[in-house]
Formats: sequence, structure tokens, C-alpha cells
Amino acid sequence: MSDSETPSVSGYGEGTTDTVLSVDAVADEAQALGLEVSGDKVLQLAGERPLVQIQGLTAGYGRMEILHEVDLAVGSGQSLCLVGPNGAGKSTILHSIFGFTDIFGGSIKVDGIEVTKSSPSERLRDAGIAYILQDNSVFPDMSVEENLLMGGYLLPNPNLAKEAAERVFERYDRLAQRRTDKAGVLSGGERRLLEISRALIMDPKVLLVDEPSIGLEPRYIDMVFEILGDLKDRDGKTIIMVEQNAKKGLACADVGYVLVSGRVAMADQGPALLENPDVGRLFLGG
Ligand SMILES: Nc1ncnc2c1ncn2[C@@H]1O[C@H](COP(=O)(O)OP(=O)(O)OP(=O)(O)O)[C@@H](O)[C@H]1O
Ligand SMILES: [Mg+2]
Repeated sequence: MSDSETPSVSGYGEGTTDTVLSVDAVADEAQALGLEVSGDKVLQLAGERPLVQIQGLTAGYGRMEILHEVDLAVGSGQSLCLVGPNGAGKSTILHSIFGFTDIFGGSIKVDGIEVTKSSPSERLRDAGIAYILQDNSVFPDMSVEENLLMGGYLLPNPNLAKEAAERVFERYDRLAQRRTDKAGVLSGGERRLLEISRALIMDPKVLLVDEPSIGLEPRYIDMVFEILGDLKDRDGKTIIMVEQNAKKGLACADVGYVLVSGRVAMADQGPALLENPDVGRLFLGG
């Protein structure tokens, strides 16, 4: 395909659409490079004992297979960032870990316990996996506090959700000041903080975060990465994130994967991946 025929795609990292190859071109090049990641490499990056371990996962929607034999491992208290072209299956990996996809093969274990066949509610309540939606998911006509309490709908007793909400307010003064305001009037950054906080009500071990920086002004992007970094460093949360802003996402990730056409094409420590010239050329427009 000549340059003039290259379809316009959204940019990765700070690359512009002029410098980034088309999705198909990236997939072709990645395939030509023969990129394949061994299960050993995946395990080695996760450290001694992986908290979330995916082996040979083949999954999709209905009968459509999107992920092919994906291996993934992340250690307790680590962050893993998935990058790759649009449609590569990044969100589908998060969906699979939370139980939103049809699984055709392979296994997903959390803390050594298999959850491959569990429902999303079971994964949240029993395995401590929380999913933070990519889309704007606050209820605009409900107050900040009511939105937070929604995060505790699976708790056996509403008082537990109230206590958890108080802990959130103690931690994030920004939200405490807005607790009775309708969520619809919050700024983009505050709304993202509310979405993250709502997931914290269940005190999950694993946070699945899809594109935390999407649609945010730069100052809020830094705030969101700081909040996630703090949840990892201070609270030992394990974070699996998809990030379109590959430079920001990989720079602070313990582990980074490049996903291409439903397969893990590269895996390394986040900053090392950023410095890999193939990653730069194919995914960062540089
Ligand atoms: N709910 C769904 N039902 C059917 N197909 C879906 C569904 N969600 C995603 N897909 C398809 O699965 C493939 C992978 O999509 P996915 O959303 O995982 O990609 P992605 O890497 O997250 O892309 P993006 O960067 O655009 O968010 C795409 O071909 C998409 O059309
Ligand atoms: Mg996605």
C-alpha cells in the first residue's frame, strides 16, 4: 500500500497520524518480524509468583475469535500496560479477565485459583477483580456519593459500602468536596477519579483499567497516572491497563506488552519496551 493510500488512523503516543503506519501495515510488519513471546518470558517478567496468570487464552465474542493463544502474567503489586493498534484486542483481554467474553480455550487464574468459567460478579466479589470502564460511566444525575455507593452493590451490607465510601473521601479531598454534587457537573479528571474510586469500594486486588487517559486534558492525565501509581505503590494493587498514550503508559509500567492482531507480539519491562526501536517505529511513530 502506498503512502497516499494509507488510511487515516488515530495517533499513538505523541506520534501524529502522518508518522504512524496503518493498522494493517503494523500487523504485517509485526508478522514479518516473526515476533513471538515465549511463556517463559511472560512468567519471568511477572516475578516469583504471578497474581494473574493467563495461559493459551483463545477468546472472542459469539463465535468470532479475537484473541489467539494469549499468555499473560502479572505479579502482585505490579502494573502491566497493554499497547497496540486499534482493534488488536487490548480491551478484549481486559474483558476476558473480567468475564465479558466467550472463552474457547486456555485458562485464567487469579492467585492460583481458576476463574475461567466464573461470572463477572463472582470475579469481582470472590477473586477481587475490578473493571474500570473505558467509556464515561458515571451516572450524571446521581450525586458523587451515590455513584460511589453503586460500587458496593455486591456487598452483603450497605453499611460496608458507606464505610468504604468514607475511606475514599478521606483519601481524595477533591471528591469529598463534591460529595453531594451531581456527578454530571464534575470535570473530566474528577469524573475519572470517581470511576476509579467506585471500583475501590470492593477493595479489589486487581484493577483492570481501559484507557484511563482518553479524552482528558494533559494536567488530568498526569493526575490519573499519579493516582494509579499511588494505588500500586501504597496499597499494593495490581494494575492491568490499556493505554493509547503508549509513552506515558509504558514509562511507568513494570511490564509492557505489545498486542498485534490478537497475539502478544512483544513483552518486556515497560521502559525497555519504549526504548525498543521496533516498538518506536511501529507503534510510536518514531
Ligand atoms: N462486544 C463486542 N462484540 C463483537 N465484537 C467485538 C466486541 N468488542 C470488540 N469486538 C471486536 O473485537 C476486535 C478487538 O477489539 P478490541 O476492542 O479488543 O480492540 P482494542 O485493541 O481495544 O482497540 P482500540 O484501541 O480501538 O480500543 C475488534 O475487531 C472489535 O470489532
Ligand atoms: Mg480498546
